[in-house]
Amino acid sequence: MENRIRRFATLDSTMEKAAELASAGAATGTVVVAGEQTAGQGRLGRSWYSEPGAGLYFTEILRPKLCPASLPVVTLALGLAVAEGLEEVSGAACDLRWPNDVLIGPRKVSGILALLQDEVLLAGIGVNVNHTRFPADLEAIATSLRIASGRVFDLDAVLAVLVERIDGWMELLLEQGKEPVLRTFTQRSSYARGRRVTVEQEGGAVEGVTDGLDPQGFLYVRGADGKRRLILAGGVRPA
Ligand code: BTN
Repeated sequence: MENRIRRFATLDSTMEKAAELASAGAATGTVVVAGEQTAGQGRLGRSWYSEPGAGLYFTEILRPKLCPASLPVVTLALGLAVAEGLEEVSGAACDLRWPNDVLIGPRKVSGILALLQDEVLLAGIGVNVNHTRFPADLEAIATSLRIASGRVFDLDAVLAVLVERIDGWMELLLEQGKEPVLRTFTQRSSYARGRRVTVEQEGGAVEGVTDGLDPQGFLYVRGADGKRRLILAGGVRPA
């Protein structure tokens, strides 16, 4: 495990460093870890709060033999891997909010950013591990393993479990296809079906009730007009 890990005290973002190393030929399974990020990237152009030494900030370089159309399901699989791994280390029940926010109760404990760059999948994972507090704008929506469980965690031990789970889910996806990922996500996520949500879209917010996943891993939301819309991207939150 340790020989796959490239550690950096400070990076702008592990995504940038991983992209650079992947272009230079870094092996599949290389994991780029930062003690802190000065420009951590979130989904939808947001930033990722990366308190020095308190969390896990890493990007795994993967070269799965999958077409770009599989990216949504890969994203769901990464969420499942992280949710399972965090449950294993902390004992706290983790929920998933489509596409791949990992929650403890209603609050976010981990975010995942999956980018496909040429043939390379950059799986960026941020986990709030030992944070005891958050900036005011995140206080109501974020949590950490420590806040949720009252315990302090060894970051390397958490990393090892997450990488093992990620590798496991990627293998399963390659061997058995999308179905196990879609089925498990639908069973596990309280957001997959019957949840009243608001989805921020470029053209404005869509409100409705979640109604399962399509075969590609996109989310159906049924509006008050009875129409079922397919959500391809966007921030989902409880209405
Ligand atoms: C999100 O929920 O918006 C996704 C957050 C992803 C954050 C991680 S931290 C490690 C990796 N490097 C980054 O700059 N972002 C991802």
